[in-house]
Amino acid sequence: MTKQWECDEQVLFDECVFADNYVEQEVRDFLSPDTTDNLLLWGLPGTGKSTVVKAIAFERYGTTDLQEHGVTVFNCKDKEQAKRFNSKFLRNSLDFACLHSDCPLYIIDELDELSDAQQRELTAFIDFSNSGQLRSMVLATTNVDLHDQTAREKAFSSALLSRFNTKLEMRQQPPNRLLALAQKMLHRAGVAYEDEALLEVLNMHCDLTSKTLDIRTVQTVVNKLIRRRKVPSENPPPKPSLRLV
Ligand SMILES: Nc1ncnc2c1ncn2[C@@H]1O[C@H](COP(=O)(O)OP(=O)(O)O)[C@@H](O)[C@H]1O
Ligand SMILES: [Mg+2]
Repeated sequence: MTKQWECDEQVLFDECVFADNYVEQEVRDFLSPDTTDNLLLWGLPGTGKSTVVKAIAFERYGTTDLQEHGVTVFNCKDKEQAKRFNSKFLRNSLDFACLHSDCPLYIIDELDELSDAQQRELTAFIDFSNSGQLRSMVLATTNVDLHDQTAREKAFSSALLSRFNTKLEMRQQPPNRLLALAQKMLHRAGVAYEDEALLEVLNMHCDLTSKTLDIRTVQTVVNKLIRRRKVPSENPPPKPSLRLV
């Protein structure tokens, strides 16, 4: 389990990008402490699903110090973490999280990686943690296309899927958002770039003729620019020139 995610990975909710306004509005509801539904974000890799669920947690709990504030982050793709995912782990984490929050939050990234048995245990846990005085909330992500019935049934038990009362598709960005998106990322890193120069670099790395964009490609280009901009100040002082003695 990840206790903390890196602060520099943290994207604030208002900085998250959504291809659909409807999805943005629906997800925004989850920022309210009154919302305790379970949310499943699905869609292609690089559409910002993991970023968005972490942004919700950050907004509601105001911290990246996860365990201390009743937030448990679980990346099912991580084999070591996946091995530990069972009802005992879930119950233990709930006992602990309840000390810190009246609505513990579980972020379960790549939900489809859970085995059938783990999905059954998670389903039972969701029912248990919403019974009596208890309440909890699960925010999960998956790359599985939920509109594809075969893929959906192969990846998930219908019981588990039914526990997610809100399921929303995150779609890729249209390329006309490219410049604004990159400027947003640069701004967050405190780096200024002229629109024209930025567009030139983006043009070299991103296929603007495609219909959609993977945010990760834009992030890679932006990271490169940030590194370049920061290099001069981070350079070690020049070595003294050699002196023959
Ligand atoms: N404004 C933003 N909204 C969403 N993602 C962003 C934003 N800015 C940068 N990113 C980056 O884009 C990538 C999105 O990927 P991720 O959230 O992992 O997508 P998914 O979980 O759908 O595969 C991450 O590296 C994230 O840090
Ligand atoms: Mg993800």
